[in-house]
Amino acid sequence: MNLKDKYIEFFFCLGHKHIPSAPVVPENDPSVLFNTAGMQPLIPYLMGEKHPYGTRLVDYQKCIRTNDLDEIGDLTHHTFFEMLGNWSLGDYFKKESISWSFEFLTDVLKIPVERLAVTVYAGDDKVPYDKEAHDLWKNLGISEGHIASTTEDNFWAAGETGPCGTDTEIFYFRSDDEVPERFDTEDDRWVEIWNNVFMEFNRTKDGTIENLPNKNVDTGMGYERVVAVLEGKNDNYTSSLWEDVIKLIEEISGKSYTGNEESMRIIADHIRTAVFISADDAGIKPSNKDQGYILRRLIRRAIRHAKKLDIDINSDWDERIALLIIDKYKKYYEELERNKSVVLENIKNEKIKFNKTLEKGLKEFEKKSDKDIDADTAFHLYDTFGFPIELTIELAKEKGLNVDLDGFNTKFKEHQELSRTASQGKFKGGLAGDSEIETRYHTATHLLNAALKITVSPDIHQMGSNITTERMRFDFNCDHKLTPEEIKATEDLVNKWIEEDLPVHKEEMTKEEAVNSGAECRFIEKYPDIVTVYFVGDVSKELCGGPHVSHTGEIGHFKIKKEEASSAGVRRIKAIIE
Ligand code: ALA
Repeated sequence: MNLKDKYIEFFFCLGHKHIPSAPVVPENDPSVLFNTAGMQPLIPYLMGEKHPYGTRLVDYQKCIRTNDLDEIGDLTHHTFFEMLGNWSLGDYFKKESISWSFEFLTDVLKIPVERLAVTVYAGDDKVPYDKEAHDLWKNLGISEGHIASTTEDNFWAAGETGPCGTDTEIFYFRSDDEVPERFDTEDDRWVEIWNNVFMEFNRTKDGTIENLPNKNVDTGMGYERVVAVLEGKNDNYTSSLWEDVIKLIEEISGKSYTGNEESMRIIADHIRTAVFISADDAGIKPSNKDQGYILRRLIRRAIRHAKKLDIDINSDWDERIALLIIDKYKKYYEELERNKSVVLENIKNEKIKFNKTLEKGLKEFEKKSDKDIDADTAFHLYDTFGFPIELTIELAKEKGLNVDLDGFNTKFKEHQELSRTASQGKFKGGLAGDSEIETRYHTATHLLNAALKITVSPDIHQMGSNITTERMRFDFNCDHKLTPEEIKATEDLVNKWIEEDLPVHKEEMTKEEAVNSGAECRFIEKYPDIVTVYFVGDVSKELCGGPHVSHTGEIGHFKIKKEEASSAGVRRIKAIIE
């Protein structure tokens, strides 16, 4: 059994429900592009909401971190990684969490106790020293010399605001050297393998730390790192997890990994991440915005490095790597197989696009790179040859040159402004623009949200939504598949409200007033102090930025096309307006 399966089984036997990984693109949190930690999709539950699966959870979660994208190519960074995690939502706390982690590491993984060391919270004027965690570790057999304490590294929060708490980090001694008696956090032979966060606080916007309704536990173990560490590998890409991918790249390029590590790691990592982003049901395509831009950068950078290895870009090298990755992971993530054609299409189309200009762009770069790259050149490379600015920076760095990034950003903004004005002009003729159809869908979403509370359960809340010109998608918490009767009643109620041609109006108010008015306010902490609440007749009030139709009669006939599971305890409705 591999580490992932062992982990799930261990916690399952301790009463944890195995919840499926949430998508990499968060469905209910517009403040981040990707899930960056196992706990991210669980924030509402750490804040006190009831989880449909109970109070003990375990999973492996798809995560993407792109803040250090440019560090990919080194030994241990990955843009995509899997995080193993177990959670207590107001159930067990420090004692069980620490002793179960210890048991898993020493009994299941058979790690000798002396190879383990831990850190605990050192304490400051707000939160005291975590003596309890210290004593628990000591009683389990971790020697005093292997217990250190810090303040900065032993307080964990996913963001500026929200759930947070002190933590205890577990380290493994990776080297063949004799294990030192005293654990030194600065000694990089000690590698962090697991983080147990005692999430009992909420950090508010003004920095105040207040108690959460529950004392929770949130743990995270980086899968690829731990596999490498346990196999005694310093370079993650030489562990059993990457072996076949690197071998395939060696075969395709006819080159050996040794001597070509950086490009091979970048190709392996970036194609894997591109596969996972593309396979998400969010339907991300390479573009110049948000997640789409990350996807574009990943694919283009992989192509550039394939070229460096003299791989024939027009061959099916990219498809072969993507297929291997899909094959490896589909057992755990069924969407990879289901969305296989979309994944391959995304990569192929982006390659075709980039190939048209890559060669010429590289020549242009060569021509201009006898000195630092000025803003005009960087923008020209972006606009005419499709070089993401990060790619130009990378090329420049390889030659020891700088890029005028500020100048590029100014040009980029000017250009955006121009295209916005141009596209606004396009709609002035009075034709129904995309945005008009989307506005109708937007108001329909509010009506659906309100209707479900009446036809199915008052506890239903929106967990995510997505609108295109063709359809709307609406995710909500619900513990059962909707019956045909519930679907019909919901559809009928929305259509009744549409026929009544209810007026829509908005009011600005403080967040507190919005909450007190009973308006639907998901993720209230993410909004500014003054918020806009949209009212539809007296059937719906929701905090929202708009825009909306002025009367529900403008929406058209509402029809539910599909009702299905989205993730654990979350159902998804797809609907159209006709
Ligand atoms: N949320 C914690 C982390 O990501 C466990 O390290």
